[in-house]
Amino acid sequence: MDTVNFMDEELIRDPFTAFSRIRERGPLARCAIPGIEQPVWLVTRYDDVKLVLNDPRFVNDPANVPGAGADNMAAQMLQARGVPPEYNKYLLEGILAFDGADHLRLRRLVSRTFTARRVLELRPRMEEITEKLLDRLPEAAEDGVVDLLEHFAYPLPIIVICELVGVPEEDHSLWREWSRTLVSSYGPSFAEAVRDMVAYIQELIGRRRAEPTGDLVSGLIQAQEEDGDRLSDTEMVTMIMTLVVAGHETTAHLIGNGTAALLTHPDQLALLLSDLALTPRAVHELLRWCGPALAVRMRYATEDVEVGGETVRRGEAVMPSLVAANYDPRMFGDPRRLDITRVPDGRRETHVAFSHGMHYCLGAALARQESEVAFEALLRRFPGLSLAVDGDDLERDLNPGAWRLKALPVKL
Ligand code: HEM
Repeated sequence: MDTVNFMDEELIRDPFTAFSRIRERGPLARCAIPGIEQPVWLVTRYDDVKLVLNDPRFVNDPANVPGAGADNMAAQMLQARGVPPEYNKYLLEGILAFDGADHLRLRRLVSRTFTARRVLELRPRMEEITEKLLDRLPEAAEDGVVDLLEHFAYPLPIIVICELVGVPEEDHSLWREWSRTLVSSYGPSFAEAVRDMVAYIQELIGRRRAEPTGDLVSGLIQAQEEDGDRLSDTEMVTMIMTLVVAGHETTAHLIGNGTAALLTHPDQLALLLSDLALTPRAVHELLRWCGPALAVRMRYATEDVEVGGETVRRGEAVMPSLVAANYDPRMFGDPRRLDITRVPDGRRETHVAFSHGMHYCLGAALARQESEVAFEALLRRFPGLSLAVDGDDLERDLNPGAWRLKALPVKL
């Protein structure tokens, strides 16, 4: 079996084609990832990806593999990124690193304050922020061209998540820079961003402890202080960091990728413009077609498990490929076709862009609502929106785990 090079240029440039090719060669592929010593199994078929994400025989924490445990590949990757070990606890012990009861406990605690109702209540404020950003777009244009990523797709989610968490407006730009650094850079700037974020959150917690408000930090403190389950200080810092970073970049790139997809598919754009009530269905399809998360964190087998007719041995790592699953013709007819009416009732989510199972994205409802508000307002305000460059010339921030644009130059 050939080993797939995760940093292969072709794979990064066009993951949709490359992963489909890998998937059709067989259900599992050996994959080499820089910074990680052992090869990893890449899981590519829709049913197998869902199985791995939902099966308790696969765990996120390598220490939960019986016997000697498995090598911690996330730790190896951090080391390769030059992070001093004292920050490992904030980066390696977030909610995504836990399994079973330990994970459920954290998820329950944060879900108490980050509720579906809270997300719904945010909608009017989201609409207000969106309108304000759109008001300012014309003045940001130079020679009639504006970078929609910089002036709309990025600011909207950072403002929303910072307001939700309780970060004051004057510090939003700090958070934007930190979370950008965390997802894209290596070495000293990465370590510095982690250090500064941790210090900031610790201070914010101190302030809210003295004077609670209605924000999420205050809610988490309250959950921390109630009897029974408790979040430790480290858990709180890690949770807030996870929420801001996970809630910012991903949503920004869904709005960016989704807008680019619509602008390069005039039939779909015209359909949506003719009936903006289709937006929730369009968001589901855009998540499948160009969702920003291409893969998820590695899982480790706690025993020998059969996947797609092959055996993953105890202690081995697997990486479910969301992009391969979302383009699997066994699940989605004509998968390369963008069809905003693909989801029959706009409710049943079939794609795995938000993962699946225990670690299904905690912010999915927020991200969907935010994208719906963004697309609807953008198209209502600028129905003649068009790309300022050829679709093939859009520059991508190439990364094997994420599908991101560098910029989105448009004419209003
Ligand atoms: C988990 C994608 C927006 C918070 C995940 C996972 C994926 C994902 C794929 C699971 C990773 C895994 O299974 O290893 C996305 C995408 C988004 C988005 C594509 C936007 C388009 C958000 C937002 C928030 C958020 C807005 C918070 C405000 C989280 C958290 C987890 C998570 C806390 C961990 C859940 C757990 O371990 O139980 N997300 N996300 N995400 N996401 Fe999102």
